[in-house]
Amino acid sequence: MCGIIGYTGKEAALPLILGGLERLEYRGYDSAGVALIENGSLVVEKRVGKIRELVKNLWGKPYRGRTGIGHTRWATHGEPSLENAHPHTDERGEFAVVHNGIVENYLELRRELEDRGVSFRSDTDTEVIAHLIAGAYEGDLLSAVLAVVNRLRGAFAFAVVTSKEPGRIVGVKQGSPLVVGVGEGENFLASDIPAILPYTRRVITLSDGEVVDVTPEGVNIYDFNGNPVTKEVVLVPWDIISAEKAGFKHFMLKEIYEQPKAIGDTIRGLVSAGEALPFDLREFRRILLIACGTSYHAGLVGKFWIEKFTGVPTEVLYASEFRYADTPVNEDDLVVGISQSGETIDTKFAVNFAREKGARTLAVVNVVGSSIDRESDYTLYTHAGPEIGVAATKTFTAQLAALYYLSISGHPQSETLLSELMKVPALVEEALERAEEIERVSQDYLRCRNFLYLGRYLSYPIALEGALKLKEISYIHAEGYPAGEMKHGPIALIDESMPVVVVAPQDRVYEKTLSNVEEVRTRKGRVIGVGFEGDDRLAKMCREFLEIPPAPEDLTPFLTVVPLQLLAYYIASKLGLDVDQPRNLAKTVTVE
Ligand code: M6R
Repeated sequence: MCGIIGYTGKEAALPLILGGLERLEYRGYDSAGVALIENGSLVVEKRVGKIRELVKNLWGKPYRGRTGIGHTRWATHGEPSLENAHPHTDERGEFAVVHNGIVENYLELRRELEDRGVSFRSDTDTEVIAHLIAGAYEGDLLSAVLAVVNRLRGAFAFAVVTSKEPGRIVGVKQGSPLVVGVGEGENFLASDIPAILPYTRRVITLSDGEVVDVTPEGVNIYDFNGNPVTKEVVLVPWDIISAEKAGFKHFMLKEIYEQPKAIGDTIRGLVSAGEALPFDLREFRRILLIACGTSYHAGLVGKFWIEKFTGVPTEVLYASEFRYADTPVNEDDLVVGISQSGETIDTKFAVNFAREKGARTLAVVNVVGSSIDRESDYTLYTHAGPEIGVAATKTFTAQLAALYYLSISGHPQSETLLSELMKVPALVEEALERAEEIERVSQDYLRCRNFLYLGRYLSYPIALEGALKLKEISYIHAEGYPAGEMKHGPIALIDESMPVVVVAPQDRVYEKTLSNVEEVRTRKGRVIGVGFEGDDRLAKMCREFLEIPPAPEDLTPFLTVVPLQLLAYYIASKLGLDVDQPRNLAKTVTVE
């Protein structure tokens, strides 16, 4: 993961780099650093912790250099420490590198360099890149980088500057994301588009196996053999306002409230002619939905819809498991990669693997131009806008909208089903009106150390998602379980100290779920029920009752997830935790 940024142009580079790093901080925040070319010399500043620690350390330092690179780290090789913070330099301090991803053969390269007498200052894989480039340098940074890239294995992106050629940044993309921001007399490099949006909306998305040579005057792209590559400059539709907090305390809360718009925009985007499906799902023998984390939970909901509306057997698989299993895949299969970022390396590799086996591939992604978008045969976009909070919220419900749309495409009643789907934004709006009540309820659960989340059928993935939201931002252990499975084990955990969140809309399994609520009550568990407004029967069985507006069975996942997102948010926020950047996590997971 990690975020990298580079600037070269007419302005002082430092404030632009720090601004960009703040917008990339969601990618990792174990340490941060910058390297600037100041009057022909390389200056490196770094700090352990968040960007604000680096900013504090830089106060009053008069850096005016117009070229520099920056990094925010999510530790993979080497613990979070000053030595391991980026940028990393060669022994003479003339070359500085910021890097995202993993150089898998770094130990072999490190041993080779050490045998030549090079001494290392960090435990990172990145430092080998700095030493290799310094060793290969013969007066041209681009040539030195080209001489080195073919020796590196793994999935990575990096940027390098040298005091020997002020004004020049060379970047490499191989498996991890890297974009170029094109300005007037200035140019940028970054891991992600939002980092550079305040400065330019003209972007080039690099592909794997490309090297970019950036100066204030121009951007030149090459393949790893040094052959020039022509790329299109794309105008990005997002503006920075949509990436600010707009008065909310946290991005996560803002994004929870943006769900009606995210769902509505997604439906409108998909309905537009440009995104019509080029195939009928019924052509396939089988559909595989492949994803990680919250996107996997969206896939679990999507499976129920696809099987109901198309009859095509559908499986949902964790990308990290699928890739190394012997699951047979062939040209009769449709493989759908679901990913907010479009950069999750496990999902990307899994989709590529399936395509190599002859399957047709479809991406469901939020980031236009991301790797999974570009590398799949077709794409359905979720038009949720940038999501900054590490915990996925609006992109989850936008993914649900895309999967529902996918499942009803080609169905004889698709028009009626679509008009039902179009009512969802207004229903989610209503569900959000209960936020105050959920905030009040959250107060009583701040000291709990464990939660159980239960649901059946379409509410089972929502139970999983509610538990994931709580654990990732509040650090409270939470387990999601199919309600009917509780009696096969987890029931042993239940006593008066165990909050049990039961997702129980009035659907085909409502009566069964209520029996499970009874089982919890009999063992004195503290039931927090999520159900339809006016459901007095459920309300009477629960210690707390979180209402959602009544809706047709198929659409309940859009609504039942809202109180669970809010419950997790208010618990974490009241505990004073860093809701948008929870410990140990990063927004985009580009390591296996
Ligand atoms: O970008 P992706 O949708 O591929 O990301 C997948 C997971 O990393 C992501 O959903 C993660 O689990 C979130 N932190 C969940 O809130």
